[in-house]
Amino acid sequence: MITKEQVLQALQPFIDPRYKLSVTELNLVRDILVKEDGVSLSLIATTEDEAYEEQARKTVEGFLKKIGVTQVHIRFRTMTEFDAKQIEDALHVANEIPPIDTESPAPKRDILAAESNVHFIAVASGKGGVGKSTVTVNLAVALARRGKKVGIVDADIYGFSIPDMMGIEEQPKLVGNTIIPVEKYGVKIISMGFFVQENAPVIWRGPMLGKMLRNFFNEVDWGDIEYLLLDLPPGTGDVALDVHQMIPQSKEIIVTTPHATAAFVAARAGAMAVHTNHEIIGIVENMSYYECKTCGGKDFVFGRGGGAKLAEELHSDLLAQVPLGAPDNHISEKDYSPSVYKAETTTGQIYLEIAERVIDKLN
Ligand SMILES: Nc1ncnc2c1ncn2[C@@H]1O[C@H](COP(=O)(O)OP(=O)(O)OP(=O)(O)O)[C@@H](O)[C@H]1O
Ligand SMILES: [Mg+2]
Repeated sequence: MITKEQVLQALQPFIDPRYKLSVTELNLVRDILVKEDGVSLSLIATTEDEAYEEQARKTVEGFLKKIGVTQVHIRFRTMTEFDAKQIEDALHVANEIPPIDTESPAPKRDILAAESNVHFIAVASGKGGVGKSTVTVNLAVALARRGKKVGIVDADIYGFSIPDMMGIEEQPKLVGNTIIPVEKYGVKIISMGFFVQENAPVIWRGPMLGKMLRNFFNEVDWGDIEYLLLDLPPGTGDVALDVHQMIPQSKEIIVTTPHATAAFVAARAGAMAVHTNHEIIGIVENMSYYECKTCGGKDFVFGRGGGAKLAEELHSDLLAQVPLGAPDNHISEKDYSPSVYKAETTTGQIYLEIAERVIDKLN
Protein backbone atom coordinates (compact mmCIF):
# COMPACT_ATOMS: atom_id res chain seq x y z
CA MET A 1 0.00 0.00 0.00
CA ILE A 2 1.04 3.58 -0.64
CA THR A 3 2.40 5.57 2.28
CA LYS A 4 1.61 9.12 3.38
CA GLU A 5 5.17 10.08 2.50
CA GLN A 6 4.64 8.85 -1.07
CA VAL A 7 1.46 10.92 -1.29
CA LEU A 8 3.33 14.01 -0.11
CA GLN A 9 6.16 13.31 -2.49
CA ALA A 10 3.75 12.93 -5.39
CA LEU A 11 2.13 16.27 -4.55
CA GLN A 12 5.44 18.06 -4.22
CA PRO A 13 5.27 19.54 -7.77
CA PHE A 14 1.84 21.08 -7.07
CA ILE A 15 2.56 24.79 -6.76
CA ASP A 16 0.21 26.89 -4.69
CA PRO A 17 -1.19 29.73 -6.83
CA ARG A 18 -0.83 32.36 -4.13
CA TYR A 19 2.56 31.66 -2.61
CA LYS A 20 4.19 30.11 -5.71
CA LEU A 21 5.69 27.32 -3.63
CA SER A 22 4.94 23.64 -3.32
CA VAL A 23 1.76 22.91 -1.36
CA THR A 24 3.69 20.28 0.58
CA GLU A 25 6.48 22.67 1.54
CA LEU A 26 3.84 25.13 2.69
CA ASN A 27 2.26 22.38 4.80
CA LEU A 28 -1.09 22.88 3.08
CA VAL A 29 -1.79 19.18 2.69
CA ARG A 30 -3.11 17.72 5.93
CA ASP A 31 -4.92 14.69 7.35
CA ILE A 32 -3.72 12.25 4.72
CA LEU A 33 -5.47 8.94 5.07
CA VAL A 34 -4.53 6.01 2.86
CA LYS A 35 -7.23 3.39 2.55
CA GLU A 36 -7.69 0.23 0.50
CA ASP A 37 -9.75 2.02 -2.08
CA GLY A 38 -7.98 5.34 -2.26
CA VAL A 39 -6.63 8.38 -0.51
CA SER A 40 -8.38 11.13 1.40
CA LEU A 41 -6.77 14.38 2.42
CA SER A 42 -7.46 17.96 3.40
CA LEU A 43 -6.13 20.83 1.37
CA ILE A 44 -5.90 24.33 2.72
CA ALA A 45 -7.12 26.75 0.10
CA THR A 46 -5.05 29.92 0.08
CA THR A 47 -7.43 31.68 -2.27
CA GLU A 48 -11.16 32.29 -2.38
CA ASP A 49 -11.14 32.10 -6.15
CA GLU A 50 -14.13 29.94 -7.06
CA ALA A 51 -12.29 28.12 -9.81
CA TYR A 52 -9.54 27.06 -7.42
CA GLU A 53 -11.19 24.02 -5.88
CA GLU A 54 -11.99 22.47 -9.23
CA GLN A 55 -8.48 23.12 -10.57
CA ALA A 56 -6.81 21.90 -7.40
CA ARG A 57 -8.92 18.75 -7.42
CA LYS A 58 -7.81 17.98 -10.96
CA THR A 59 -4.17 18.71 -10.15
CA VAL A 60 -4.15 16.50 -7.07
CA GLU A 61 -5.91 13.70 -8.91
CA GLY A 62 -3.42 14.00 -11.75
CA PHE A 63 -0.36 13.75 -9.51
CA LEU A 64 -1.76 10.91 -7.42
CA LYS A 65 -2.77 8.95 -10.50
CA LYS A 66 0.93 8.78 -11.36
CA ILE A 67 1.55 6.72 -8.25
CA GLY A 68 -1.43 4.51 -8.91
CA VAL A 69 -4.09 6.22 -6.78
CA THR A 70 -7.34 6.46 -8.65
CA GLN A 71 -9.79 7.40 -5.91
CA VAL A 72 -9.08 10.70 -4.20
CA HIS A 73 -11.29 12.41 -1.67
CA ILE A 74 -10.33 16.03 -0.98
CA ARG A 75 -11.77 18.24 1.73
CA PHE A 76 -11.03 21.89 1.25
CA ARG A 77 -10.44 24.06 4.26
CA THR A 78 -10.09 27.82 4.19
CA MET A 79 -6.86 29.21 5.49
CA THR A 80 -7.05 30.44 9.08
CA GLU A 81 -5.31 33.56 10.33
CA PHE A 82 -2.77 31.29 11.97
CA ASP A 83 -1.96 29.32 8.83
CA ALA A 84 -1.44 32.57 6.95
CA LYS A 85 0.76 34.01 9.67
CA GLN A 86 2.88 30.90 9.81
CA ILE A 87 3.42 30.81 6.08
CA GLU A 88 3.97 34.51 5.67
CA ASP A 89 6.49 34.69 8.47
CA ALA A 90 8.48 31.84 7.03
CA LEU A 91 8.37 33.43 3.60
CA HIS A 92 9.24 36.92 4.75
CA VAL A 93 12.25 35.76 6.61
CA ALA A 94 13.17 33.27 3.92
CA ASN A 95 13.35 36.17 1.49
CA GLU A 96 15.15 38.34 4.03
CA ILE A 97 12.32 40.85 3.89
CA PRO A 98 11.43 42.15 7.32
CA PRO A 99 7.80 41.41 8.15
CA ILE A 100 5.55 44.39 7.77
CA ASP A 101 4.29 45.31 11.17
CA THR A 102 1.02 47.10 10.68
CA GLU A 103 -1.04 46.49 13.77
CA SER A 104 1.19 45.66 16.71
CA PRO A 105 1.18 48.61 19.07
CA ALA A 106 4.59 48.52 20.76
CA PRO A 107 7.83 47.54 19.08
CA LYS A 108 8.83 44.05 20.13
CA ARG A 109 11.93 43.66 22.17
CA ASP A 110 14.75 42.19 20.12
CA ILE A 111 15.77 39.52 22.56
CA LEU A 112 18.54 38.22 20.30
CA ALA A 113 20.34 41.55 20.47
CA ALA A 114 23.38 41.39 22.72
CA GLU A 115 22.08 44.27 24.83
CA SER A 116 18.79 42.53 25.59
CA ASN A 117 20.34 41.04 28.75
CA VAL A 118 18.29 37.87 28.41
CA HIS A 119 20.12 34.83 29.72
CA PHE A 120 19.85 32.11 27.10
CA ILE A 121 20.34 28.58 28.35
CA ALA A 122 20.38 25.78 25.79
CA VAL A 123 19.76 22.33 27.19
CA ALA A 124 21.67 19.78 25.15
CA SER A 125 22.66 16.13 25.20
CA GLY A 126 24.61 13.71 23.09
CA LYS A 127 21.77 11.29 22.66
CA GLY A 128 18.02 11.14 22.85
CA GLY A 129 15.83 10.17 25.73
CA VAL A 130 18.15 11.21 28.55
CA GLY A 131 15.75 13.82 29.88
CA LYS A 132 16.62 17.12 28.15
CA SER A 133 13.01 18.16 27.85
CA THR A 134 12.24 17.08 31.41
CA VAL A 135 15.21 19.09 32.68
CA THR A 136 14.25 22.11 30.53
CA VAL A 137 10.68 22.14 31.80
CA ASN A 138 11.54 21.63 35.45
CA LEU A 139 14.44 24.05 35.52
CA ALA A 140 12.21 26.68 33.89
CA VAL A 141 9.45 26.08 36.43
CA ALA A 142 12.00 26.13 39.29
CA LEU A 143 13.41 29.47 38.08
CA ALA A 144 9.87 30.83 37.97
CA ARG A 145 9.27 29.47 41.49
CA ARG A 146 12.37 31.45 42.49
CA GLY A 147 10.66 34.55 41.18
CA LYS A 148 12.40 34.84 37.83
CA LYS A 149 10.72 35.68 34.53
CA VAL A 150 11.24 32.67 32.34
CA GLY A 151 10.48 31.43 28.84
CA ILE A 152 11.00 28.17 26.97
CA VAL A 153 11.63 27.77 23.27
CA ASP A 154 10.99 24.19 22.25
CA ALA A 155 13.70 24.12 19.60
CA ASP A 156 13.17 20.44 18.94
CA ILE A 157 11.26 21.31 15.79
CA TYR A 158 10.66 17.75 14.58
CA GLY A 159 10.30 16.14 17.98
CA PHE A 160 8.61 18.91 19.99
CA SER A 161 7.29 17.67 23.30
CA ILE A 162 7.05 20.62 25.71
CA PRO A 163 3.32 21.40 25.29
CA ASP A 164 2.35 17.81 26.09
CA MET A 165 4.83 17.50 28.93
CA MET A 166 3.44 20.63 30.59
CA GLY A 167 -0.16 19.67 29.91
CA ILE A 168 -0.83 22.72 27.74
CA GLU A 169 -4.07 22.73 25.85
CA GLU A 170 -4.27 26.33 24.70
CA GLN A 171 -2.76 27.90 21.64
CA PRO A 172 -0.70 31.07 21.51
CA LYS A 173 -2.67 34.19 20.63
CA LEU A 174 -2.00 36.45 17.73
CA VAL A 175 -2.13 40.19 18.31
CA GLY A 176 -1.42 42.13 15.15
CA ASN A 177 1.68 40.41 13.86
CA THR A 178 2.90 39.31 17.24
CA ILE A 179 2.58 35.87 18.75
CA ILE A 180 1.77 35.88 22.46
CA PRO A 181 3.27 32.74 24.01
CA VAL A 182 1.23 30.38 26.15
CA GLU A 183 1.93 30.68 29.86
CA LYS A 184 1.89 27.88 32.41
CA TYR A 185 3.35 27.78 35.94
CA GLY A 186 4.64 31.29 35.27
CA VAL A 187 6.67 30.15 32.26
CA LYS A 188 6.09 31.48 28.73
CA ILE A 189 6.24 28.75 26.15
CA ILE A 190 6.56 28.57 22.40
CA SER A 191 6.80 25.33 20.45
CA MET A 192 6.40 24.04 16.92
CA GLY A 193 3.70 21.87 18.49
CA PHE A 194 1.44 24.93 18.57
CA PHE A 195 1.71 25.40 14.83
CA VAL A 196 1.32 21.83 13.64
CA GLN A 197 -2.16 20.46 13.52
CA GLU A 198 -3.23 17.09 14.86
CA ASN A 199 0.32 15.85 15.20
CA ALA A 200 0.87 16.16 11.45
CA PRO A 201 4.52 15.58 10.64
CA VAL A 202 6.63 18.65 10.17
CA ILE A 203 7.63 18.59 6.56
CA TRP A 204 9.22 21.97 6.14
CA ARG A 205 12.79 21.62 5.13
CA GLY A 206 15.99 23.53 4.94
CA PRO A 207 15.79 27.29 5.02
CA MET A 208 12.16 27.50 6.10
CA LEU A 209 12.82 25.38 9.15
CA GLY A 210 15.76 27.45 10.30
CA LYS A 211 13.72 30.58 9.73
CA MET A 212 10.87 29.16 11.75
CA LEU A 213 13.21 28.92 14.69
CA ARG A 214 14.31 32.51 14.18
CA ASN A 215 10.65 33.53 14.22
CA PHE A 216 10.35 31.97 17.66
CA PHE A 217 12.63 34.74 18.85
CA ASN A 218 11.72 37.64 16.60
CA GLU A 219 7.97 37.32 16.20
CA VAL A 220 7.08 36.35 19.73
CA ASP A 221 6.31 38.90 22.40
CA TRP A 222 8.52 37.62 25.22
CA GLY A 223 7.76 40.64 27.39
CA ASP A 224 10.33 41.23 30.10
CA ILE A 225 11.73 37.72 30.45
CA GLU A 226 15.12 37.26 32.06
CA TYR A 227 15.84 33.62 31.28
CA LEU A 228 15.05 31.83 28.02
CA LEU A 229 15.61 28.09 28.02
CA LEU A 230 16.01 26.24 24.75
CA ASP A 231 15.15 22.59 24.55
CA LEU A 232 17.44 21.31 21.82
CA PRO A 233 16.90 18.22 19.70
CA PRO A 234 19.22 15.35 20.62
CA GLY A 235 22.70 15.24 19.21
CA THR A 236 24.70 17.73 17.27
CA GLY A 237 22.50 18.13 14.19
CA ASP A 238 21.41 21.08 12.07
CA VAL A 239 18.99 22.65 14.53
CA ALA A 240 21.56 22.56 17.32
CA LEU A 241 24.03 24.21 14.98
CA ASP A 242 21.46 26.84 13.95
CA VAL A 243 20.86 27.65 17.59
CA HIS A 244 24.57 27.90 18.28
CA GLN A 245 24.98 30.35 15.42
CA MET A 246 21.81 32.30 16.03
CA ILE A 247 22.52 32.90 19.72
CA PRO A 248 26.26 33.15 20.20
CA GLN A 249 25.71 34.43 23.74
CA SER A 250 23.82 31.30 24.79
CA LYS A 251 25.11 29.24 27.69
CA GLU A 252 24.61 25.51 27.92
CA ILE A 253 23.51 22.82 30.28
CA ILE A 254 24.34 19.29 29.26
CA VAL A 255 22.18 16.41 30.36
CA THR A 256 23.47 12.89 30.64
CA THR A 257 22.58 9.64 32.35
CA PRO A 258 25.08 8.14 34.81
CA HIS A 259 26.27 5.44 32.46
CA ALA A 260 29.82 5.92 31.22
CA THR A 261 28.91 5.46 27.55
CA ALA A 262 26.11 8.02 27.78
CA ALA A 263 28.55 10.50 29.24
CA PHE A 264 30.97 9.67 26.45
CA VAL A 265 28.34 10.56 23.82
CA ALA A 266 27.33 13.67 25.77
CA ALA A 267 30.93 14.82 25.58
CA ARG A 268 30.36 15.31 21.85
CA ALA A 269 27.57 17.80 22.52
CA GLY A 270 29.91 19.45 24.99
CA ALA A 271 32.69 19.56 22.42
CA MET A 272 30.35 21.38 20.06
CA ALA A 273 29.53 23.94 22.73
CA VAL A 274 33.22 24.48 23.33
CA HIS A 275 33.88 24.69 19.60
CA THR A 276 31.20 27.37 19.19
CA ASN A 277 32.46 29.23 22.27
CA HIS A 278 29.35 28.55 24.32
CA GLU A 279 30.06 28.46 27.98
CA ILE A 280 28.88 25.30 29.69
CA ILE A 281 27.10 26.22 32.92
CA GLY A 282 27.15 22.66 34.13
CA ILE A 283 26.05 19.07 33.82
CA VAL A 284 22.80 17.57 35.06
CA GLU A 285 22.98 13.86 35.61
CA ASN A 286 19.46 12.51 35.22
CA MET A 287 18.07 9.12 36.24
CA SER A 288 21.04 8.87 38.59
CA TYR A 289 19.65 6.36 41.03
CA TYR A 290 16.50 4.81 42.33
CA GLU A 291 15.72 5.60 45.93
CA CYS A 292 14.04 2.79 47.82
CA LYS A 293 10.86 4.23 49.35
CA THR A 294 10.88 2.00 52.42
CA CYS A 295 14.59 1.73 53.28
CA GLY A 296 15.87 4.99 51.73
CA GLY A 297 18.78 3.13 50.10
CA LYS A 298 20.03 4.21 46.69
CA ASP A 299 20.19 1.76 43.84
CA PHE A 300 22.39 2.91 40.96
CA VAL A 301 20.49 1.04 38.28
CA PHE A 302 22.08 2.81 35.32
CA GLY A 303 25.64 2.78 36.59
CA ARG A 304 27.55 5.53 38.32
CA GLY A 305 29.82 8.43 37.77
CA GLY A 306 28.90 9.47 34.23
CA GLY A 307 27.95 12.99 35.21
CA ALA A 308 31.03 13.61 37.32
CA LYS A 309 33.30 12.22 34.62
CA LEU A 310 31.68 14.43 31.99
CA ALA A 311 31.96 17.50 34.21
CA GLU A 312 35.64 16.82 34.67
CA GLU A 313 36.18 16.29 30.97
CA LEU A 314 34.43 19.54 30.08
CA HIS A 315 36.00 21.46 32.97
CA SER A 316 32.56 22.20 34.26
CA ASP A 317 30.46 21.41 37.33
CA LEU A 318 28.04 18.64 38.09
CA LEU A 319 24.99 20.73 39.01
CA ALA A 320 22.87 17.90 40.32
CA GLN A 321 21.98 14.25 40.28
CA VAL A 322 18.28 13.77 39.67
CA PRO A 323 16.83 10.45 40.81
CA LEU A 324 14.58 8.16 38.83
CA GLY A 325 10.89 8.61 39.34
CA ALA A 326 8.07 10.24 37.40
CA PRO A 327 6.16 13.13 38.97
CA ASP A 328 3.32 11.91 41.12
CA ASN A 329 0.70 13.91 39.25
CA HIS A 330 -2.75 12.72 38.39
CA ILE A 331 -4.73 13.59 35.31
CA SER A 332 -7.72 14.52 37.47
CA GLU A 333 -5.77 17.36 39.12
CA LYS A 334 -6.82 20.86 38.21
CA ASP A 335 -3.44 22.04 36.97
CA TYR A 336 -2.27 18.73 35.57
CA SER A 337 1.01 18.28 33.80
CA PRO A 338 2.67 14.93 33.20
CA SER A 339 6.27 16.10 33.63
CA VAL A 340 6.42 18.88 36.20
CA TYR A 341 7.56 17.85 39.70
CA LYS A 342 5.78 19.61 42.54
CA ALA A 343 7.96 22.04 44.50
CA GLU A 344 7.75 20.13 47.77
CA THR A 345 8.86 16.74 46.39
CA THR A 346 12.47 15.51 46.58
CA THR A 347 12.99 16.03 42.87
CA GLY A 348 11.17 19.36 42.98
CA GLN A 349 13.64 20.49 45.65
CA ILE A 350 16.61 19.32 43.58
CA TYR A 351 15.38 21.43 40.68
CA LEU A 352 15.03 24.44 42.99
CA GLU A 353 18.68 23.92 43.97
CA ILE A 354 19.73 23.69 40.32
CA ALA A 355 17.85 26.95 39.68
CA GLU A 356 19.70 28.58 42.57
CA ARG A 357 23.07 27.49 41.22
CA VAL A 358 22.20 28.65 37.72
CA ILE A 359 21.11 32.06 39.00
CA ASP A 360 24.37 32.36 40.98
CA LYS A 361 26.52 31.32 38.05
CA LEU A 362 24.90 33.72 35.61
CA ASN A 363 25.05 36.77 37.82
N1 LIG B 1 14.38 11.32 36.38
C1 LIG B 1 13.49 10.64 35.65
N2 LIG B 1 12.85 9.58 36.18
C2 LIG B 1 11.96 8.88 35.46
N3 LIG B 1 11.63 9.15 34.19
C3 LIG B 1 12.25 10.19 33.60
C4 LIG B 1 13.20 10.99 34.29
N4 LIG B 1 13.62 11.96 33.46
C5 LIG B 1 12.99 11.77 32.30
N5 LIG B 1 12.15 10.70 32.36
C6 LIG B 1 11.31 10.16 31.31
O1 LIG B 1 12.17 9.68 30.29
C7 LIG B 1 11.63 9.94 29.00
C8 LIG B 1 12.60 10.79 28.21
O2 LIG B 1 12.70 12.07 28.81
P1 LIG B 1 12.72 13.39 27.93
O3 LIG B 1 11.64 13.38 26.92
O4 LIG B 1 12.80 14.52 28.86
O5 LIG B 1 14.12 13.17 27.22
P2 LIG B 1 14.77 13.95 26.00
O6 LIG B 1 16.23 13.86 26.18
O7 LIG B 1 14.17 15.28 25.85
O8 LIG B 1 14.31 13.03 24.82
P3 LIG B 1 14.36 13.36 23.25
O9 LIG B 1 15.77 13.12 22.88
O10 LIG B 1 13.43 12.36 22.67
O11 LIG B 1 13.94 14.78 23.07
C9 LIG B 1 10.29 10.62 29.24
O12 LIG B 1 9.29 9.67 29.19
C10 LIG B 1 10.43 11.20 30.64
O13 LIG B 1 9.19 11.32 31.29
MG1 LIG C 1 13.16 16.17 24.21
